[in-house]
Amino acid sequence: PTLPLDPTDEKGIPLLGFGTAEYPFGASMDTMKDTIIQAIKVGYRHFDTAALYQTEQPLGEAIVDALRLGLIKSRDELFITSKLWCSDAHCDRVVPALQRTLRSLKLEYLDLYLVHWPASVKPGEMELPVKKENLVPIDLNSVWEAMEECQGLGLTKSIGVSNFSCKKLETVLSTAKIPPAVNQVEMNPMWQQKKLRNFCKEKGVLVEVYSPLGAKGTLWGSNRVMESETLKEIAQAKGKSLAQVCLRWAYEQGVSVLVKSFNKERMEQNLDIFDWKLSADELHKISQLPQCKGFPAGEFVSEDGPYKSLEELWDGEI
Ligand code: A2P
Repeated sequence: PTLPLDPTDEKGIPLLGFGTAEYPFGASMDTMKDTIIQAIKVGYRHFDTAALYQTEQPLGEAIVDALRLGLIKSRDELFITSKLWCSDAHCDRVVPALQRTLRSLKLEYLDLYLVHWPASVKPGEMELPVKKENLVPIDLNSVWEAMEECQGLGLTKSIGVSNFSCKKLETVLSTAKIPPAVNQVEMNPMWQQKKLRNFCKEKGVLVEVYSPLGAKGTLWGSNRVMESETLKEIAQAKGKSLAQVCLRWAYEQGVSVLVKSFNKERMEQNLDIFDWKLSADELHKISQLPQCKGFPAGEFVSEDGPYKSLEELWDGEI
């Protein structure tokens, strides 16, 4: 039996989603496809991919199979997000990039399309880390206008950004006809993003969270979250897992959370966060945790590039 659909925000964005980033790319296409089918079986309806991740294709195949197997009746039961890579963050390349993404996913439309980073690299290979010599200044306003065109053409139901500071969001908002629906950023108890969250709330931009468990095992992650003694103590006293405490904490902050697990029990466990609460005392303890950004993304910083320091990339929000 499938679990109830995840709760959604007022724009209809499901507040819990399944991530498919695996970088360096570890899982085979078949494993990723099977994992996604399993996730649909246990109740996930919101899936997050990106042109960079190489998981658009397995996600698309999983959707075809889910329809064939009757796990879902139609594609619109799903909420699908993908992202524009930096090599296509040039105003004339945005619509074609989304069309390619849709072909990989075998879909007519996305629910959400995001500008992956506030950065452009010369057209060419998609890779992370990016080659510093390929970094070029991004024209946030014209890239955003092309994103608006994508929505106007019906290629995506909504558009947003990822890894944007308050200042860069402000730049987009200053000329946007369609304001970004979402800013997808790193957030977990060790990097709580209070300033950015307050700003986004004020502007009506939903914060979506990646690395809610600290993304151990990836290029950008570490064990810091999963090995926090404070979180371990809270989890133990609560009879929940540490991962559930992190996910519930994020949910209680009014954000949408993306989580990934290749394991069925952990997939189910991660959905089981909606019928219990953290106490005021537990929330207070979490609010006191020392803060440190897990993924500063120094590869976007270069002496000769548009961002000469991490300060400039994150506009001091680091
Ligand atoms: P696994 O696939 O073996 O479950 P993030 O969402 O922050 O990127 O973290 C994802 C990582 O956390 C994955 O490596 C995943 O490994 C692991 N993970 C996901 N859910 C849980 C959980 N409930 N308990 C422990 N580890 C988890």
